[in-house]
Amino acid sequence: MLSKQAFAKIDQEIAKYPSSAKRSAVMSALRIAQTEKGWLDQDTIQCIADYLQMPPIAVHEVATFYHMYYLHPVGRYTLTICTNLSCALQGGVQAADYLKKKLNIGFGETTSDGKFTLLESECMGACGDAPVMLINNHQLCGLMTPEAIDKKLTELE
Ligand code: FES
Repeated sequence: MLSKQAFAKIDQEIAKYPSSAKRSAVMSALRIAQTEKGWLDQDTIQCIADYLQMPPIAVHEVATFYHMYYLHPVGRYTLTICTNLSCALQGGVQAADYLKKKLNIGFGETTSDGKFTLLESECMGACGDAPVMLINNHQLCGLMTPEAIDKKLTELE
C-alpha cells in the first residue's frame, strides 16, 4: 500500500488528463510508487491498477517495457549503462565491462553491500555524449571513460 502523500501525487497526475483517461497517469504513478518503495512488487502494481481502474497485466506491461522501472530490489545507486550503437561505438561496452569488473557484478546484479546495481539500457537520446551512464534515473552522465567512471563513483561514496 502506498502512503497518503503518494496517492496525493498520483491524483495530481490524474488531474492532467480527462476523467475518462485516468490510466494515462500510469507511468507517473509507477514512478511515484517506485520513488516511495524503492522498487515495484506485485502488490504495488496491483495497487496502482486498482487505483487507475486498469487490469493489473496492463500496468505490468508498462512496468516491464521501460527500463527505468525496477521489478526487483535494487541498490542505493542504480548505474544504467547504454550499450546501444552510438554508445557501443564510443566505448559503452568497455564502460560496462569496466564497471562489472570494478564492482564485481554483472548486469541486473547488486553489490554485496547493497550500494550499486548495474543495469543496461537502450538509447537514452544523448548519443552525442556517448558513452552514457544514468545514475538513479536522474543524473545523466556522458563521456564515461574509466577515469570519468572512477570520479563519479567517488562522488557517490
Ligand atoms: S546510443 Fe547511447 S545514448 Fe544513444
